[in-house]
Amino acid sequence: MRSMTSFNTGWSFSQGFSAERAATLAPGAESVTLPHTAVELPFSYFDEAAYWHAFTYQKLLEADPAWAGKDVSIVFDGAMADAVVWLNGEQLVAHKDGYTPFEARLTGKLKAGSNLLTVKIDGSENPAIPPFGGRIDYLTYAGIYRDVWLKVTAPVSIGSVKIETPDALAASKTVTVRADLSNPQNLPFTGTLTATLRDAAGATIATTSAPAAARVELGFANLAGLSIWDLKTPTLYTVELTLGDDAVSHAFGFRTAEFTPEGFVLNGKPLKLRGLNRHQSFPYSGYALGRAAQEADAEILKHTLHLNMVRTSHYPQSPWFLDHCDRIGLLVFEEIPGWQHIGDAAWKAESVENVRRMITRDWNHPSIVIWGVRINESQDDHDFYTETNRLAHELDSTRPTGGVRYITDSEFLEDVYTMNDFILGNEELGGNRPRTPLRPQQENTGLTRNVPYMITEFGGHMYPTKSFDQEQRQAEHVRRHLEVLNAAYGDPSISGAIGWCAFDYNTHKDFGAGDRICHHGVMDMFREPKFAAYVYASQCEPDEEVILEPVTFWARGERNIGGTLPLMVLTNCDEIELAYGSNPPKRIGPDRENFPHLPHAPIVIDRRHFTAEELGLWGMEWLDVKITGFVGGKPAAEVRYVADPVASTLHVVADRDSISATGQDSVRVMVRALDQAGHKLPFLFEPVEIEVTGAARRLGPGLVPLRGGATGFWLESTGAAGPITIAVTSPRFGTTTLSLTAR
Ligand code: GAL
Repeated sequence: MRSMTSFNTGWSFSQGFSAERAATLAPGAESVTLPHTAVELPFSYFDEAAYWHAFTYQKLLEADPAWAGKDVSIVFDGAMADAVVWLNGEQLVAHKDGYTPFEARLTGKLKAGSNLLTVKIDGSENPAIPPFGGRIDYLTYAGIYRDVWLKVTAPVSIGSVKIETPDALAASKTVTVRADLSNPQNLPFTGTLTATLRDAAGATIATTSAPAAARVELGFANLAGLSIWDLKTPTLYTVELTLGDDAVSHAFGFRTAEFTPEGFVLNGKPLKLRGLNRHQSFPYSGYALGRAAQEADAEILKHTLHLNMVRTSHYPQSPWFLDHCDRIGLLVFEEIPGWQHIGDAAWKAESVENVRRMITRDWNHPSIVIWGVRINESQDDHDFYTETNRLAHELDSTRPTGGVRYITDSEFLEDVYTMNDFILGNEELGGNRPRTPLRPQQENTGLTRNVPYMITEFGGHMYPTKSFDQEQRQAEHVRRHLEVLNAAYGDPSISGAIGWCAFDYNTHKDFGAGDRICHHGVMDMFREPKFAAYVYASQCEPDEEVILEPVTFWARGERNIGGTLPLMVLTNCDEIELAYGSNPPKRIGPDRENFPHLPHAPIVIDRRHFTAEELGLWGMEWLDVKITGFVGGKPAAEVRYVADPVASTLHVVADRDSISATGQDSVRVMVRALDQAGHKLPFLFEPVEIEVTGAARRLGPGLVPLRGGATGFWLESTGAAGPITIAVTSPRFGTTTLSLTAR
């Protein structure tokens, strides 16, 4: 029987590396559990060189006599950036990519009893390894930051499996399966490879088999009554393959996805792609949050921000994240590691290998609809990108390629022209171009015909916005996201628009606000929404969620000159009613004049809706307000602001009330200071002390400030079961406690 067991616990970790470590356990090492970040960083203002050196991970492995005659290896899902693995002093494997998996094969090298596995991880920005060599606008935290597995199989076992669905939309469907056997010892073999097609509940739909060979092609035909994978019903099936007592199972879905000059088409129906870019980083722990946090991010993108697409900028992301995108119906643009810089011939060869590693790891994910095979925002390089495209097409004939650029008139070698269009805001640089949300396609491509075309970034550095920035700036941040989305919706030749970006992220000194943060997210690093988050959320239909988010802190003197107008309300309600003081309530509908193309235009309250007297002037009394949203003529949501906000409660809330005691699990906890109406107090920069006792540990420091009225942290399981108590203490609010359970 094949076994794939977690190999995450019982590691020893030490700073630095020396040759003797390959064969001897470092004395006084710290004991750690994977995923692990080599250096826990402060929230901001740190020296990013802190992890630019070598680290040692070691683990003693007791050889199991039952492994005799089996193939044994250790599978690393991801380690940053330069990994070398030894067993008892003998080097087994080296891997020069921080984002793709690799295996250390132990077969024939294990001795009876205890064996020492040593992994050197060098977190330096080694210019020989993509994305390094130039400057990059993100950090690549060192460590064995994804899961590690102990894999035991028969000596001839099932290796890579590729599943395709050539006629996904037909009533009678076909599935083709290509399996490569893994036979590292080149042993003669016979046998039968059997494929079983199952539905999501595990029920068998069909079975087929073929004689075992180095490469076996199998197929299922005339499959009736099967469902397609769609955004609302992302139905998955699995193919289970068996060879003797070896078995593997892979999920897939039936769907078609095409980028055409007239836009994107999913399962035969036009779909405007609405997305954000995601970096896989978290505060303090960098890349090293495991399955739970990866899945939670996918949930946020799909169900909080109501996106239909994410771009894994700028590298292949966690398998847990991608699996969850499959499960919940979130489309993915996945790309190879890189950022502007192209290195020498060896570097390019490594990058071409990254195309291979990415595609062969991920080709069965129905959520992935396009491969990015250019170094993000690099210059043209005919030979290099001809090769990345050739290889992508050779490996996967079912998906188009894209290559993200910001230069115009770039050589079009891919199937989809994927463009970072940062024109909005350019008017501030002078010149006579008026404010423009997006350039016309052909101006960017330099072509005289329309081609499949998608916007892969906008916003970002053109208008960085902190969660605690002035309301007026946040309103402009909102407006820019609205304007670009509106333009994308209004142009049928644009497949969609993916904004920069979902979450704030730590970065190098050469970027961001000097605090080592790019405040470019529509959410902050804790995934706490800024107002711009609701630009995206409000585009969903009210039957999914009713969104009613006025872009205001509701204060007379927060904006320049005073007042709160124009007040944008991000909503998918048909209209709102505004009740302010003793003025007659006002009904106001969406601003279709300025945002004609959005599924749900914002409602903009401005001077036209008030008499001068009603408006109230500087020096007049400031009053409470109530806004009610109506859907189909009925009140569907209500939001109330008080004129005299005071610090009322410290709200402590966890995303879940339990954590898994076994394996690595994490739960996000948010702490929010609220006024009487339940709104965050955006300018309450007071400290809170967070104490965690019981069966979980807190990631990050215990004494932190509220930023924008909130802070957050992740709780991580310790392997123990039992109660967990979180106590958050502040001089003003006293202590708030929250209980969770590790089970
Ligand atoms: C782009 C780049 C992103 C990020 C963004 C900031 O040029 O691709 O990684 O740096 O700018 O707006």
